Amino acid sequence: MPANEMKVYGGIKLYSGTASPELAQKVADYLGEKLCGRDIVEFPNENLFVKLHTSVRGQDVYVIQHTAAPVHRNLMELLILLQTLRLDSAARITAVIPYLCYGRSDKKDQPRVPISSRLVADMIQVAGADRYVTLDPHAYQIQGFFSIPGDLLNSSLILNNYVKQNLRLTLKDPVVVTVDLGYAKKGRDFAASIDAPIAFIEKRRSSNDAKAQALTVIGDVKDRDVILVDDEIDTGGSIVQAVNLVKESGAQRVYISFVHAIFSANAAKNLGALPVTEFITTDSIPIPPEKRRLLGGRLTVLSVAPLLGEVIRRAHEGRSVGEMFNE
Ligand code: R5P
Repeated sequence: MPANEMKVYGGIKLYSGTASPELAQKVADYLGEKLCGRDIVEFPNENLFVKLHTSVRGQDVYVIQHTAAPVHRNLMELLILLQTLRLDSAARITAVIPYLCYGRSDKKDQPRVPISSRLVADMIQVAGADRYVTLDPHAYQIQGFFSIPGDLLNSSLILNNYVKQNLRLTLKDPVVVTVDLGYAKKGRDFAASIDAPIAFIEKRRSSNDAKAQALTVIGDVKDRDVILVDDEIDTGGSIVQAVNLVKESGAQRVYISFVHAIFSANAAKNLGALPVTEFITTDSIPIPPEKRRLLGGRLTVLSVAPLLGEVIRRAHEGRSVGEMFNE
């Protein structure tokens, strides 16, 4: 930072909740910082207690915590951490949430239902966050639920680059296929980045049933290598049907690229049984060893730590984040 620019905040202080310790450590390593000490205790009655080891008064604080399973424990822990930092007079607090829960509950699309994503946004702000950072939310319009500024980062670029640099030359007539029409724009960007055509799967869900129904593939996959792309794999229902559908339609090798490995229920087991050459994902949510084993050497996990670290560095120095994406 030029000497004549006024520094508004103190140093960077990085905290990790219990959900994202490995990712938080990688972010700290990227920044050349240490994670700050804190105690997080769960009492027998499941109430949580947080204590910071050192003062954060006047500091620029970042809390890294995903809110995938156990969702409510991780969310509550994040909220209590934010409030603790607020009460200790941090100058600015940023919630860095690699995976933000309740993203799919973003509208009142039937009578007598909540908009839980809005509720989560309200809670994060009320707890004390001045800013938030998240990766590939299910729908970008959730930013309208926050009245604080946020960086909604596109980490699918990390996946695109991997395919471009490591697989593109070995792929035979590749086509990028989005698992549903909601991912069409990101799918188009992916296809353009590797100079491949695009196809789409039309998928319908029935009411609140978590089991999705894949219906038709729009586009040409016959005799081509297919890269199926999506934002997340939760139960795996959508992707299992998508793989079966493209295979029935004559696809050759199948690759799957997705940002968030939620892997609920038997997702990893079901994925492991699929005729898929490679599963490419990120570490936005840690994948437990027993689930990794089910996918064996076919699983590639790319780290989002450099992306988060660079955004934190730029936010701290008051520099553009958009520049990182040529915006
Ligand atoms: C849905 O619209 C998303 O893009 C994913 O396709 C969905 O969340 C995956 O869920 P599941 O793995 O449970 O089918």
